[in-house]
Amino acid sequence: MDTIINIEYYFIAIFAALWIMLPAYVPNPIAALCGGGTPIDRGRTYPDGRRILGDGKTFRGFIIGIGSGILVGMIQITIQSGGGWSGIPDHTPLSITLLSIGALSGDLAKSFIKRRLGKERGERWNIADQYDLVAGALLLNVVFNLNWLISAVSLIIFLWILILTPFLHYIMNIIGYLTGIKDVPW
Ligand code: CTP
Ligand code: MG
Repeated sequence: MDTIINIEYYFIAIFAALWIMLPAYVPNPIAALCGGGTPIDRGRTYPDGRRILGDGKTFRGFIIGIGSGILVGMIQITIQSGGGWSGIPDHTPLSITLLSIGALSGDLAKSFIKRRLGKERGERWNIADQYDLVAGALLLNVVFNLNWLISAVSLIIFLWILILTPFLHYIMNIIGYLTGIKDVPW
């Protein structure tokens, strides 16, 4: 393959990874921005004596976060309805909904496990804090939208998702910390 074609190919794969994951990347920072109020576990504890999820998982963050991911996805669908671009997978109403719900559900599942491991709310837990949203977002599409997932996420796009996610997570958390939205830079 010609070098120029190669560069173009990698650029398209990076953009495709970001385009696919955007409805899953948006909910977390929006939840951090808009969250608060009643925690989803309503303050209840698990039999191990620790909180089920903790004060960092609220109804408001969950609902506004998911709504914002779906809204961004609807904008993406509108943009692509003009014909889309070759090499960039098309979103569908189902894909954006599952990506958005999956991202914050993965976040909830992570917090549940975190509490069982005795980690406090906001305590750092590297790999899990970074990949919870990827796991949740892709898992929901495996279960409910497999044909779309197979056609949209090639191996190279999947690898880019794994490479880019911790990097974006890092940048967003630094921004969140510097602007005072988050108490800790992770
Ligand atoms: N948030 C929320 N509701 C959610 C998810 C997040 O209100 N469903 C808000 C909370 O204010 C939370 C902030 O976003 O503190 C950052 O989210 P995250 O880092 O996921 O939560 P942590 O506070 O770190 O809690 P945990 O240790 O359970 O991950
Ligand atoms: Mg956190």
